[in-house]
Amino acid sequence: MTRLKTRVPELAGVATYAQAARIGYSVEENVQRLLRIHWTERKLMATMLAHLASMPVWEAKCALALHQWYCAEHADWLRRRITEMRHPAPPLDQPPDAALDAFLEELLHAENPEELIAGVYGVALPALRDAYYNHIHHTNPLVDQPTRRFMRFALLEITEAVEWGDAALSALAEDSSAAVLATSWREHLELYLDAARGIAGDPRIAVEEGDGRSGVAIRALDPPLPPPSAANPFVPDFEPKRDRRFHGLYNFNFPPHVVYNAPGVPADERNVALLCKRTLEMDVPEMMCSFLFERKDQPWEFYLDYSRQLWDEARHAMLGTVAFESRGVDWTEIPLNVGFSLRLNLHATPQERQILLYAIEQSLMPSETGKRFEYETAVEAGDELSAHFHDYDWADEVLHAQIGRRALKREGITGAAAIERGKEIHERTWAALEQYKSREPQTNWWPDFVRKVLGKESAAREDHLAEPRIVGE
Ligand SMILES: [Fe+2]
Ligand SMILES: [Fe+2]
Ligand SMILES: [Fe+2]
Repeated sequence: MTRLKTRVPELAGVATYAQAARIGYSVEENVQRLLRIHWTERKLMATMLAHLASMPVWEAKCALALHQWYCAEHADWLRRRITEMRHPAPPLDQPPDAALDAFLEELLHAENPEELIAGVYGVALPALRDAYYNHIHHTNPLVDQPTRRFMRFALLEITEAVEWGDAALSALAEDSSAAVLATSWREHLELYLDAARGIAGDPRIAVEEGDGRSGVAIRALDPPLPPPSAANPFVPDFEPKRDRRFHGLYNFNFPPHVVYNAPGVPADERNVALLCKRTLEMDVPEMMCSFLFERKDQPWEFYLDYSRQLWDEARHAMLGTVAFESRGVDWTEIPLNVGFSLRLNLHATPQERQILLYAIEQSLMPSETGKRFEYETAVEAGDELSAHFHDYDWADEVLHAQIGRRALKREGITGAAAIERGKEIHERTWAALEQYKSREPQTNWWPDFVRKVLGKESAAREDHLAEPRIVGE
């Protein structure tokens, strides 16, 4: 019997007949590997969240905000795939391996920004990249096509994060004391990673034996591990920090909150106020990271949804910076106070932070004062870039209002109850800021800023600059 030859590629283009005839991971081995990779993504996400508020370097905050969301997305894919392969699914909320967990606990215990960046970007993410890469190459391309599919996407994102990290690490290396910290922490973590046999459970220094497949031989000699940093319980520091370029962290006067919709103020000035408000939105990720880290018993959707929202909020802050950069304005001169994240992280419970966030996002929805008004202000000001940004900011905030509603509903809190409690939480935490006011002069910086950006006098009156209602976003 002769088979008809065709030049149309076989097997949907996934592999050749020969490639698909190779024996890859069994379902059991596959699931064990995915469980380890999943746990790594989860704990990497938690590590990034735990350190986001206290990370002083603005650009590193931006990166942590993005990469924690990548981790959440990858964890979500992995959960689904594990559940497809094993029913009922093995436990996804506990460590699959003690040595791997020990490595990830060490990673969490970074004591300064240098250690954090060196650990996450110099050790953990490259090891994760290796785990995805190995899986893609060793698994059978046809039987395990669904895993390979998402892993190729994940690999793109991890590679992007590692490249960001390489550039950040070489910038850090310019400061020799930072470089010393980074190097010794990396060496410490590498030993723990070796002891865990890497992320997926392969020996990290592969000894080629037998059929030459990696993962066959285990290193004969395991060096003793240095004492763990994780011997001490991890206490996250959620007091927000900013680097040396910034000032006015404790100047809680932020006139843009009032000016953006103050009567009698022209659209160009109100638009600049909006761009300041966007830039200030970094205080939302600085707050959200704390409740995302501290709330331990929520269903997975909670972490996945809020992780995305956290990244959106950081993006909104970045939109503000882009708008100022495009005008040639040094936006680090804006006194971007940390009042919102400071008062909520240190003076409210994790659930209260979530409730206030919901109350604020609800307040953004009315068309006369909320996001529609902001977009129309930018249009009226003739600022095409600002209008473009506010168009998307508006869309994102509608999504966030839905995320907040879903999360509170799961906990039996109605929207109306959340808005009521939000007022109380706002007032109480606003009062808590009193104790920080002596750290910096409480000045009205708006008139000078308007002069600098618009080259004219501000039309805002002093009484426009009074303490506002619930503010944020
Ligand atoms: Fe926003
Ligand atoms: Fe939002
Ligand atoms: Fe926002």
